[in-house]
Amino acid sequence: MNRLQFEAKLSTFRSLSTLPAVMAEVLRVCDDPDASLAELGEVIIRDVALSTRILKIVNSPFYGRAQQVSSVRNAVMTLGASKVKALALSLSLYDLSTKIGTRIDLKDFWRHSLNVACVAELIANRIAPNLAEEAFICGSIHDIGVLVLDNFYPREYGKVLQSIAGGEDMISIEKQILEIDHAAAGEMLGRVWNFPDRYCVAMARHHDVFDLNDNTAENRLPQIVNLADKLATFTIESNAAQRHSVLSNKEVLASNLGLSNTDLKEIEYSALSRLLETSQYLDVDVGTTAELLQQATNQLYALYSYTEQLYRELVQTRQQLDEEKLQRVALESLQAIVATFSHYLNNAVASISGRTQLLEMSMNNGQVDDPDGILAKSLAVYEKNAEQITAVIEKLKKVTVFKTAIYHDNTKIIDFEKEARLSTLALEEAALTKAPTPAE
Ligand SMILES: [Fe+2]
Ligand SMILES: [Fe+2]
Repeated sequence: MNRLQFEAKLSTFRSLSTLPAVMAEVLRVCDDPDASLAELGEVIIRDVALSTRILKIVNSPFYGRAQQVSSVRNAVMTLGASKVKALALSLSLYDLSTKIGTRIDLKDFWRHSLNVACVAELIANRIAPNLAEEAFICGSIHDIGVLVLDNFYPREYGKVLQSIAGGEDMISIEKQILEIDHAAAGEMLGRVWNFPDRYCVAMARHHDVFDLNDNTAENRLPQIVNLADKLATFTIESNAAQRHSVLSNKEVLASNLGLSNTDLKEIEYSALSRLLETSQYLDVDVGTTAELLQQATNQLYALYSYTEQLYRELVQTRQQLDEEKLQRVALESLQAIVATFSHYLNNAVASISGRTQLLEMSMNNGQVDDPDGILAKSLAVYEKNAEQITAVIEKLKKVTVFKTAIYHDNTKIIDFEKEARLSTLALEEAALTKAPTPAE
């Protein structure tokens, strides 16, 4: 299935191919500069369910009205066009989502979507208050493509969900199995519904990687939604495998949007209470407070475990680096020591050998008397020791790496001694076969 096939399928689904009438009307009136708030009120009144909710919202403790607002017209006046648009669209979409047959848990889905909507609104309030309502709308709708893909291709999407649970990246696996990802599916649905272009782009780009220093006006809303998706406590799509890229993209987005670490912390801090308030006044079921806190704790624990795992890996890498560094320094020191020692020891061995040979010659010439053979035995011991020293030096010179060296362990020393003994034995055997030892 590619984009064209998806588009064709979309047009055959009447419930999805046309935007709910009230949503279309709200969008039209809000985007019409000549339309009045009274007109918007008329649109809302035609939808009983929406009217009831708008009244409930305007009278909720969140807005802190001293007097009860009882007419929809007054409610619209009180809230303002942007707010009414954001609420109407989110509510209509929520109603629509309950009618799309899907295996996705809608409570999880809306917990995440509203979480992103609230965080996007909080971000916009800091950097571009005029975008606050649109950021909220785009946050609410950004993942709608997930529900549509699951509804259209249940068998394939089942495999996608399985792979995500196994740690695969959601966008990559969607593209691999379906040739289309939920961001593109959402964008296409938005275009079919005649959503403003900026909403469609925000949906399409909510998983994109943006360049550092991208401060373009058209990418502001998409970057707000993208960052909100990454800051959201409740997720439907991220897993440990993605976390590294999420963390690095988060830094780029925050920098592009001019948000400091303190801003991010404050946004994350108020996001949960904002989600609770919003879900209550929108009457959207995102689970009880206890469930939300439990899930937030689970997410936090997962993040903690991931951080701990990263820390362990970091320590291991550092240890490895230290070990390698230590080995290199130890090897360099050893080579310097061996070079110095071998110089002096070779000189000493040459000197001993020279004297030994001179003595042997003097004995053979009868110039030195050795009636008991003591001198001959001593010379043999000198020669043996000189050969051992030479063998050990040769072994040490050949050391280029400590493969499994453990410091302060005697193993290596024992190995060297063993090697030296073997070399000496070989020399002795060679000497035995070549010439008889001095008289015993
Ligand atoms: Fe997404
Ligand atoms: Fe998302």
